[in-house]
Amino acid sequence: MNIAVNPDDHAVHPTIYLKDYQPPVFGVSTIDLDIRIHETETLVVSTLEMQRLHAGELVLLGRDLELLNVQLNGSDLAPSSYSLDKETLTILNAPDQCTVKTEVRIHPENNTQLEGLYKSGGMYCTQNEPEGFRKITFFPDRPDVLAVYTTRLEADNQYPTLLANGNLIEAGQVGGDRHYTIWQDPTKKPSYLFACVAGDLAVLKDSFTTMEGKPVALEIYTEEKDIEKCHVAMQALKDSMLWDEEHYGRAYDLDNYMIVAVSQFNMGAMENKGLNIFNTSCVLSSPETSTDASNFYVKSTIAHEYFHNWTGNRITCRDWFQLCLKEGFTVFRDQSFSDTLQSPAVQRIDDVSSLKSAQFAEDAGPLSHPPRPDHFVEINNFYTATVYDKGAEIVRMMATLLGEENFRLGTDEYFRRHDGEAVTVEDLIGSLSDGSGTDLWNFLPWYSQPGTPVVTGQGIYDAETRRYTLTLSQSIPKKPNYPAPQPLPIPVKIALFNQQTGQPLLLDAQGETETVLMLNQSKQVFVFEHISSQPIVSLLRDFSAPVLLNFDYQDQELAFLMQYETNGFNQWQAAQQLLERILLQGHDASAYLEALLVTLPKVASVDPLLASRLLDIPTETFIASRIDSNYDPVAVRSTRETLMNAIAAELKDFWSASYAALPIVPYADTSEAMGQRALRNAVLAFASRAGVADALTHASQQYDAAVCMTERLGALRQLVNYDAVDHDAKLADFYQRFENEALAIDLWFGLQASKPNATIGEITRLSQHPQFDLNTPNRVRSITGNFATNPVAVWTTEGAQFYVNLAKTLDAKNPILGSRILQVLSRWYTLKEPLRTQVKAVIDGLQGQVTSSSVVETLANLQKA
Ligand code: ARG
Ligand code: ZN
Repeated sequence: MNIAVNPDDHAVHPTIYLKDYQPPVFGVSTIDLDIRIHETETLVVSTLEMQRLHAGELVLLGRDLELLNVQLNGSDLAPSSYSLDKETLTILNAPDQCTVKTEVRIHPENNTQLEGLYKSGGMYCTQNEPEGFRKITFFPDRPDVLAVYTTRLEADNQYPTLLANGNLIEAGQVGGDRHYTIWQDPTKKPSYLFACVAGDLAVLKDSFTTMEGKPVALEIYTEEKDIEKCHVAMQALKDSMLWDEEHYGRAYDLDNYMIVAVSQFNMGAMENKGLNIFNTSCVLSSPETSTDASNFYVKSTIAHEYFHNWTGNRITCRDWFQLCLKEGFTVFRDQSFSDTLQSPAVQRIDDVSSLKSAQFAEDAGPLSHPPRPDHFVEINNFYTATVYDKGAEIVRMMATLLGEENFRLGTDEYFRRHDGEAVTVEDLIGSLSDGSGTDLWNFLPWYSQPGTPVVTGQGIYDAETRRYTLTLSQSIPKKPNYPAPQPLPIPVKIALFNQQTGQPLLLDAQGETETVLMLNQSKQVFVFEHISSQPIVSLLRDFSAPVLLNFDYQDQELAFLMQYETNGFNQWQAAQQLLERILLQGHDASAYLEALLVTLPKVASVDPLLASRLLDIPTETFIASRIDSNYDPVAVRSTRETLMNAIAAELKDFWSASYAALPIVPYADTSEAMGQRALRNAVLAFASRAGVADALTHASQQYDAAVCMTERLGALRQLVNYDAVDHDAKLADFYQRFENEALAIDLWFGLQASKPNATIGEITRLSQHPQFDLNTPNRVRSITGNFATNPVAVWTTEGAQFYVNLAKTLDAKNPILGSRILQVLSRWYTLKEPLRTQVKAVIDGLQGQVTSSSVVETLANLQKA
């Protein structure tokens, strides 16, 4: 075994390899859990019916458990019959069939790591993916051991709500002040999908009848004061259930579906069988307290977790290296569902812009890994943009290639073959290939190669032969410790445009104007005949592959596409390509500005949501992800500010006219209304920048007149960013108004942390505010995530020290969160000197100061960059 050693550190954490996978020695047919919760301890008795599957020892995994008793087939085991160490309990000489019963004591009341059973606010809840179940009881805690669960929960009467997976089969009192429930989950599941909850919660109820005619009781649990904020989630749940029936033929299988909102949660949400547990930020929504973005995120997260019931729960992962099998596929499914919530073009824009800013950046640095990693130290470090979002892009490429009908034949085959199993990426590709009749095996290397491929090329038109020749080549960055990269299959969706008419050309006799070229070699030539004049090629339409495009366009040609592309996504993409040239290669902005001046008003009048996205300017962090050395954050800021100022000035008249044309109207939760609010805020931001007379007065009025959070926050942002006279008063007003709304207070912290010229002093003061709370990840991220958008302040000794200090504090308290926070510094090595050396010294200061596998692994990766 290889050991990842943090050189000066005493903590050693083994590296685990995919190639070392061994099937489980024992299976578990049933598990009976008895969980008795008390204020100062929780006692867990578990009874496992085990059957030998392979030769070897019977090993159960456990962490931070106090073992009180262990029995084999009904008799207490003497200490000589088992061995116990920090992570395992081994039953010596276990028979092939046996009943193993353990009793342990745990302390959820002190569990700040938010893994296993823990207390969030006043309630108990669980988070067991990936390896939390071993913090509740001894068990073969791995996704390929599937068992039937029966759970008895007992707690004081002050926790009237006692929930676990499956059906409630019994409930009653235990003496005067305690009570219990017993739940039985009829489906076999891996331990990471076990959940239970004890609390004093209100419930919103509804129901859904499946296409098979089965009635399902739907329940969302939250604190009483928030119950009215659960309607959006409930509707999204019903919409998702119907969508999965219509698009994948998948119906729900249990009699009930419960969702519980908790305020302290490391991630967004968790798909526990029939009992999802959600971060409040992903389930609660109301116009007054949530932005449109968070309202949208609630719907797509509800869909995501619901879709896991088939892609994740009924068909699960063989091992954690296969995480992208369930996450990539499920993200692709939730993205497709979201196409029904806003225009598909804008949905694609939003997904691609987050792919480019998060995943491309991750893949460009020391944390780069393939969608299916081949080794890890801490699996919690691999819930990444690469596993989720690049994983989704791979499924999307295969779906694009197959077309809707054949993709459905492929997925039908996957569900038919593997329902009830724990499988691998190969099983998905095999099913999609066999079901559709199209061999997709050449996509497998996408799962094992890290790095973002770059597609380069040029087009040559020959007027004499009326022939257009497109040459495309691909290159994939070679990463240390990976074999030389092989060419990948890259679907390149294209159209050709007539420069004179602005119309797309017909590419075949059927009248198609779009085609998908398969680039699967290092270099390929594609020839188009009967082309009557020099065309302009539109490449990578709909972002048909997760690659960087480096085509030798003239800026004028991209400006042409900005105006004439027939699909909103491609229009946006042309603008982004042009912007990247301006920001990264120093191109003149005039072609872009001219195109924007004619295009924006046109789009604004028909599709305000799309217009708001056309005003997206690549962020400083995205620009930084494309600069590999000598990165100067101040210079990047200044280039970007110059461009933003030029846009603001060029369209000065448009801002005034357009703001006046977008009055505040009663709230509606529709794509159109969202578009108007998004455009109004974008216009207000540019108007404020342009110094349009009264812009900040309008902002102030918009703040007061706001009918929803999107309007109030959008206005407040300009008042704060431009130091309007009333900005302190408005910030204070906001705080008072929403004092008891934790998610709105997160926005209040976030807005101040994301102020472009915030100093580290201001950020530090914010983190000393009495409402800042290291035990609530949402609150921590409201500062760390937003401040990270300000590289000028982050990349200083003090800025880096801020993140390093937090990572150090969180190393013991909440290592999953600590590790994420440290990742903000992953591209330190690209900085120009002397910044590079200064920041490196700050990072090195963590050496020997941290012990958790999560933070140690991330630190080691950062240091070897
Ligand atoms: N499976 C969850 C999802 O829907 C994420 C859980 C991740 N939890 C963690 N501790 N890393 O995406
Ligand atoms: Zn997921």
